[in-house]
Amino acid sequence: MNARVAQEIRTGRLELLPLCVEHAEEMAAVLSDPALHTFVGGAPDTPRGLRSRYRRLAAGSPDPDVSWLNWVVRLRAESCLTGTVQATVRPAEAGPLAEIAWVVGTPWQGRGIAGEAARALVGWLGRQQVHTVIAHIHPEHRASAAVATAAGLAPTAHRHEGEIRWQRGEGGPEGPVSH
Ligand SMILES: CC(C)(COP(=O)(O)OP(=O)(O)OC[C@H]1O[C@@H](n2cnc3c(N)ncnc32)[C@H](O)[C@@H]1OP(=O)(O)O)[C@@H](O)C(=O)NCCC(=O)NCCS
Repeated sequence: MNARVAQEIRTGRLELLPLCVEHAEEMAAVLSDPALHTFVGGAPDTPRGLRSRYRRLAAGSPDPDVSWLNWVVRLRAESCLTGTVQATVRPAEAGPLAEIAWVVGTPWQGRGIAGEAARALVGWLGRQQVHTVIAHIHPEHRASAAVATAAGLAPTAHRHEGEIRWQRGEGGPEGPVSH
C-alpha cells in the first residue's frame, strides 16, 4: 500500500518541505546551472518543464507498493529554497528499502547543506521504520560520497550502471546486497 507521505523535517538551519507544484518556479532558478548534471546526466528544466515534473511527483507513484517522497530544502536564515532531497521507498526482503538522492543549487554548495539534509532524511526514514537506505553515486563524485558518508551510508561492492551502491542498514555495507 502506498501509505507513506512526506512530512516537514526541521534541522538546525533547514526546513525540508514536502515538494509541491508551487515550488517549481523558484526551484527552476535554483537548479539552473548545467554543471549540476555533470554526474547525473540530463539538463536543467525550464520553469514549465519543472512544473509538470513536480505535478507528476506530487501525484505520487502509480505503483501502490512504491512511495515517491520528495522535499525541497529551505534555508531558514535566507528564506530561500536551495535544493531537493528524495526517497523512493519500496518493499524488499529485509523490510522497506529507500533509495535516496540529493541536489543543492550551485550558489549554496559547500556549506554543508546537502549533508545536513541527507542526515535528517535518513533519520526521518528510520522513524518511519525504513532502516535500509541506499544511494547510487558516480565513483568520481567526491562531494556526493561525502554527503552519503555524513548520512551514515557506506560504499558496497555493488555497481549499478557504472555507479557505486552506497548502503546503510540491513544487508550492508558488508552484508549481501539484494537487487
Ligand atoms: C552533491 C551535492 C548535493 C553536494 O552539495 P553540498 O551542499 O555542496 O554538500 P555539502 O556542503 O554538504 O558537502 C558535503 C561534503 O562534500 C565535500 N565537497 C563539497 N564539494 C566538493 C567538491 N567539489 N569536491 C570534493 N568534495 C566536495 C564537502 O567538503 C563536504 O565534505 P565533509 O562532509 O567531509 O566536510 C551537490 O554538489 C550537487 O547537487 N551536485 C549535483 C547533483 C548531484 O550530483 N547529486 C547527487 C546525486 S546522488
